Amino acid sequence: MGYNFTQKNGIMSSKTESKGCIVIIDDYDHIRTTFASYLENFGYQVKMAKDGSEALTLVDQNIFDVAILDVCLPDYNGMDLLNELKKIQPTLEIIICTGHSEDYDFFGAIKAGATDWIAKPCKLPELHAKVERVRREQKQLQKLSKKNCELEQIKTETEHVLKGMRSVIQNQDGVHIQKRTKIRTDFPEIIGDSEKIESVLGLVRLVSKTKSSVLITGESGTGKELIARPIHRLSNRTSFPFVPVNCGALTETLLESELFGHERGAFTGASMEKRGLVEEAEGGTLFLDEIGETTPQFQVKLLRVLQEGEYRRVGSSKCKHADIRIIAATNVSLEDNVQKGTFREDLYYRLNQFRIMIPPLRERNNDLLLLSQYFLESACTEFSKELVGFSSEVIEKFLRYAWPGNVRELENMVTQAVILATPPTIELGDVPTLIDRLHRHPRKTRLSDKPFNEAKNEFEIKYFQNVLDRTKGNLSAASRLSKIDRKQFREKARKLGVHGTSYSQQM
Ligand SMILES: Nc1ncnc2c1ncn2[C@@H]1O[C@H](COP(=O)(O)OP(=O)(O)OP(=O)(O)O)[C@@H](O)[C@H]1O
Ligand SMILES: [Mg+2]
Repeated sequence: MGYNFTQKNGIMSSKTESKGCIVIIDDYDHIRTTFASYLENFGYQVKMAKDGSEALTLVDQNIFDVAILDVCLPDYNGMDLLNELKKIQPTLEIIICTGHSEDYDFFGAIKAGATDWIAKPCKLPELHAKVERVRREQKQLQKLSKKNCELEQIKTETEHVLKGMRSVIQNQDGVHIQKRTKIRTDFPEIIGDSEKIESVLGLVRLVSKTKSSVLITGESGTGKELIARPIHRLSNRTSFPFVPVNCGALTETLLESELFGHERGAFTGASMEKRGLVEEAEGGTLFLDEIGETTPQFQVKLLRVLQEGEYRRVGSSKCKHADIRIIAATNVSLEDNVQKGTFREDLYYRLNQFRIMIPPLRERNNDLLLLSQYFLESACTEFSKELVGFSSEVIEKFLRYAWPGNVRELENMVTQAVILATPPTIELGDVPTLIDRLHRHPRKTRLSDKPFNEAKNEFEIKYFQNVLDRTKGNLSAASRLSKIDRKQFREKARKLGVHGTSYSQQM
């Protein structure tokens, strides 16, 4: 018999086209040889084992597709042998064959991993049909798993190409891709590596270890709440709650009952007593956002909590004690409010024990770039998109825009752009509102933000325009005022594109 079994010890016999490799395990010589020669006629390659030990050795050394297993062997119980065979080669399909079909537990065998069964004396065509069916199914499975492998490979290759594309694009002009941000261990949620944000985080580290109240100031969307949370997290109050309250969203009476709670019957609708947020925050931190929106009457009560640690529920005359730390935030100037008389000076000083000012995003260009990339990657994950970065035009405009809504505005704009954009990059068309916003809120750039020649040119234009405006376009008067020769003045004004047509006396 010319076998071509794949041998596990690495020796492969010569391979001819085979319909499959079969091992016949039976203690009857006659049955083994009859089955073998019958199946060989159909192109199968067959090996034989007369007992369990021989079968295990064969299966250990070769890879078979199908085993035909007689369950009554001199040395092995059929079920045990089935389990052992499956342990060695889990993909081996086993057809059980027994002469005692009435009392054999076929279902148990199928449960244990047998593929099919046949009763002895068996008809050879029936055996052949079963082997054929098993092989067909095996081949289909192999095809499917090959397809799966191919798909897996395509996926890996695509990822590889995309990675390559990113680094190629990264090296090209015209596209801006920011390097991944390093995540700090103590502030994993905060993105940014500008000096300004580093110094804010330095203050957070310092103040978190103290008992001091903190006032966080900064324009809307700069991350005041984001900074308040780690002050609590890094403090010794961390195992107690952090309770945020938006003071600007509630009327004075509502805010009072929300914060301090109320007794039953304290006001219409107060059918039950209610714990306030001060009580909820016991042992922890109360974060009062938009503190500048509170009324002086409410501020008195808050001052009492800060100074005495005492407060009263609405509708109660009993004093309660509070052990809380207060962090307040505002995007308006409390100093101005104190001047105007809308914010109590004593409360201001109490809150302002430690001040953290979060600079606007336009003063943190590094952070702006890192945050843009960070929001791009987050949105790509959320919307399953493969974008790598921004076109240089977009970044150039990002850097000229004033971002009045700061990080929140950036996050919204980038998220919307990711939805609109076609890979690989975000283009100007994907940020449709940017140009308009840029016109309305350009950055007030300092002179030193520009290259000298650009700044000088701007100055000259302004100067010549101003002189011509003051002299109502009279060149002789302009020459006298500027102490520049009349001809030279005219020439320079022409070069700068300045005409004495628009007269503004204010300039
Ligand atoms: N450095 C940062 N890194 C990551 N996300 C940030 C950063 N700064 C702000 N954000 C995000 O920007 C959004 C606005 O932040 P936050 O609510 O803390 O701002 P705020 O100053 O409290 O705003 P408001 O004045 O409107 O109350 C949040 O989604 C926040 O996670
Ligand atoms: Mg806030």
